[in-house]
Amino acid sequence: MERSFVMVKPKFADKPEVIEYVKKRLTDAGLKIVSGEYKSYSTEKAQEHYAEHFRGSYENAKPFYKTLEAYITSGKVYGMEVVGENAIARIRELVGSTIKTDKETGAQILPAKGTIRYEVPLMINEPHDITENVIHASDAPSAGERELAIFKTL
Ligand code: GTP
Ligand code: MG
Repeated sequence: MERSFVMVKPKFADKPEVIEYVKKRLTDAGLKIVSGEYKSYSTEKAQEHYAEHFRGSYENAKPFYKTLEAYITSGKVYGMEVVGENAIARIRELVGSTIKTDKETGAQILPAKGTIRYEVPLMINEPHDITENVIHASDAPSAGERELAIFKTL
């Protein structure tokens, strides 16, 4: 069994139909939602959660870090502990990728149809946004443990 930290981000977390949809996608896949709670990230906690992008300081941070921090601290999130066999990879599949930019044409490549990141904005008439996506899910078992521990301190 693996544990993942799954978080519906601001702009989406305050919509009950989005929370219900996300929970249904997870439970329909046979995953178990152990707990779910609304909380908010301070800038310090956002830096801790996104440590791989913040890299210790604004000078060293990735170029998109400031917009990411502004987004994640902009309102309440809904964080869940989710468990199941191979949970990390299966949830990342359900979530879908971030928006990529085609190097040659500059066109944006959306997450795949059917994924949560693709379907939820359509469902509630929000644009697909490169920074302001719907949901986070841990990308490794160690990340799951680390992120769940941070969420407990919020
Ligand atoms: P998270 O679940 O939020 O961690 O997303 P991810 O694991 O699918 O992607 P990653 O950890 O690489 O990026 C974290 C977040 O930073 C993404 O969800 C986006 O909001 C943002 N992000 C990543 N890459 C870019 C980028 O190239 N441009 C912009 N503007 N934002 C980005
Ligand atoms: Mg990530």
